[in-house]
Amino acid sequence: MTSVLEHARTCPIDEIIPMSPEMLKCPSIMNRRFHHEAPVFQDPTTGIFFISRYDDVVAMSMDHKTFSSVMPGGQAGTGSMVSDDPEIKAIMDQGYPGVSTMLTADPPVQRHYRKFVNGAFSPESLKVLEPFIDRVSNELVDAFIDEGHCEFLSAFGVPLPLTVIASQIGAPQSDLPLLRKWTNAFIGNLSQQLDRDGLLQAAKDVLEFQLYFVEKMEVRRAHPEDDILSKLVNASIDGEKPLNNSECLSMLSQIMVAGNETTSAALTQGMQLLINNPDQYEMVRKDPSPEMIHCLVEEVLRYTSPSSNMFRRTTREVEVNGVAIPENSVCFARFAAANQDDERFPDALKFDITRPNLKDHVAFGKGVHHCLGAALSRREMNGGFKVIFERMENFRLTPGAGEPEFSANALLHGLTGFDLSFDKK
Ligand code: HEM
Repeated sequence: MTSVLEHARTCPIDEIIPMSPEMLKCPSIMNRRFHHEAPVFQDPTTGIFFISRYDDVVAMSMDHKTFSSVMPGGQAGTGSMVSDDPEIKAIMDQGYPGVSTMLTADPPVQRHYRKFVNGAFSPESLKVLEPFIDRVSNELVDAFIDEGHCEFLSAFGVPLPLTVIASQIGAPQSDLPLLRKWTNAFIGNLSQQLDRDGLLQAAKDVLEFQLYFVEKMEVRRAHPEDDILSKLVNASIDGEKPLNNSECLSMLSQIMVAGNETTSAALTQGMQLLINNPDQYEMVRKDPSPEMIHCLVEEVLRYTSPSSNMFRRTTREVEVNGVAIPENSVCFARFAAANQDDERFPDALKFDITRPNLKDHVAFGKGVHHCLGAALSRREMNGGFKVIFERMENFRLTPGAGEPEFSANALLHGLTGFDLSFDKK
């Protein structure tokens, strides 16, 4: 791997293979070269245009008319699976058809659906979750604190956002493994890496997800509670009729998939960044105030950018940074690369919680698709780090654990695990 990365440092720019596992795991070298030499780079293997500079990524995110989120044959995020395979089709026919709602739709369709959930995800509505996030974080820490070490991703990073979202969409704690299984089925289908058996299993899991939540939705229609699922199924905006089951399933699948992996990745890499940057860790350790933890969270979001790239399709020929991109081209809005642009964030590869423009990062995207769950994940991260700093200190990588590894994923950037050791306070 090192030699591939070394090669990427000096090779002619068009020899870089951006979708190779090495580049996906460690994109910083490629990002740096793209910023300077090829702000718009067409990958010769996939034909995808990689757009990497901060200003260009922001501009394309704001121009949804030219850069559409609707992909040809794009069934991702619709709450269902589309396939020509008769066996998969037969499984999906027992459930509910997919509908494009937020992530994979353009305005006015996308705006229509966002109206139903914007209120439920506003910072004010989510304030009530603060004590719950505190309790869950403490319970998770209780489970491993006496050991002095843990695999942080599975012990804290994954269960914190999963437990919070489960509580909001009507799933009891005992069903967390099901939520994880269904999230993996949607991600597996998205990855296009599954063989036929994998796809068949994913279809069965997606059907199970649909039937499970339709039952929960019926209960919440009859007996609303103070949670996001009740708001989703009962919302009636501007006199329009409430969403039907297929629409709600699509939105729930997006909330489940987009909401879990990303926050888990940011929390986990955040611990790694604290260990790798003792001066920054020292600042928060000395002053773990809400203001300081807020700065830590924003810099972790900028630096880690878990939702690293998102697809767009051009609806017309367009010029970006002097490069003509033909109509109907697939482009990547490279949020992670934009967040490493020195023009916007001087010395961008330095993890620095005192940056004056922390709030400028685009980890949550920009424009109409700006992350629905931004306030929720900020609450989870601020609440989670607060408890970690209250109860643990002297963070270090567990001796002998080996170098932490990133997964090779084009859309989501995160560690596959992180062996953390610490002292109990
Ligand atoms: C650290 C955590 C998170 C990161 C880095 C993140 C990142 C993003 C980004 C970059 C986008 C814009 C996509 C685009 O422009 O195409 C987005 C959209 C979205 N996010 Fe997040 N997200 C996070 C957490 C969450 C959570 C907790 C939820 C839900 C509970 C969520 C739900 C969504 C949804 C539904 C959209 C689509 C919105 C639309 O298209 O209107 N995300 N997110």
